[in-house]
Amino acid sequence: MLKATLLKATQAGGDVLKQYFNGSFQVSSKSSVNDLVTEADKNAETAIFSVIRETFPHHFILSEESGEISSDSNTKWIIDPLDGTVNFAHGIPICCVSIGIEQDGEMILGAVYNPFLNEFFVAEKGQGATLNDKPIRVSAKEEMNKACMVTGFPYTWKEYTHSPIDVFEYFVKQGQPVRRLGSAAIDLCWVAAGRFDGYYEHSLNAWDAAAGFLMVEEAGGKVTDFKGHRYSPYQRTLIATNGLIHEPLIDIVNGKY
Ligand code: IPD
Ligand code: CA
Ligand code: CA
Repeated sequence: MLKATLLKATQAGGDVLKQYFNGSFQVSSKSSVNDLVTEADKNAETAIFSVIRETFPHHFILSEESGEISSDSNTKWIIDPLDGTVNFAHGIPICCVSIGIEQDGEMILGAVYNPFLNEFFVAEKGQGATLNDKPIRVSAKEEMNKACMVTGFPYTWKEYTHSPIDVFEYFVKQGQPVRRLGSAAIDLCWVAAGRFDGYYEHSLNAWDAAAGFLMVEEAGGKVTDFKGHRYSPYQRTLIATNGLIHEPLIDIVNGKY
């Protein structure tokens, strides 16, 4: 029932995104001029909530646009109703709905749906990860210098010892492919599907990565913070890889190169 509701809620959010995409909608700024929220983010969130509440009226919800709707339930839905809002606002079809479900502090289910590429990713703890119902697996690339990376940048800059630009510059100067798609959830799913070999980001929120990190783990990859500790959605840094290039990538994000 939990998984069926997750799929239904994710689909409902994606349907709302489709209705608004490339149309006219209100856009406003949040923490900075380019940290955007649109009518689509808000209405997708409403549609997602209504599916969840129909079946699970008392579950804990943590969602980007509404914050915490807390209860004493041990089941928590962690929701980004639209990940990749800047892309969405510019008509770039790299954006998605991302929902993770945590039970007793452990992520057990995740779904990420990009309705524009028609890609629906699902992960279930211990059961693997799928793209449109077909199992996916991380890449087998072993050489760090031949790996294809993806990353993202924060909306507001703070001082870093080894900043996102320093790490990006390192890869560019090495002549190594590094991409910036603009959706953390999609970045993670594309690592899970073996399209990217590694992903790192310096400042994420729980809703950006809750579903995607389970996707990578269930596809056979590894996800940690920048110190190499197992990833928790309640801290900021994240490195996700196929497992084979994980240690070298940890060194690089920490300026050891
Ligand atoms: C953002 C995207 C982006 C990442 C930012 C996130 P939003 O989420 O995932 O790729 O670099 O850190 O905040 O604002 O589009 O939901
Ligand atoms: Ca997000
Ligand atoms: Ca969002």
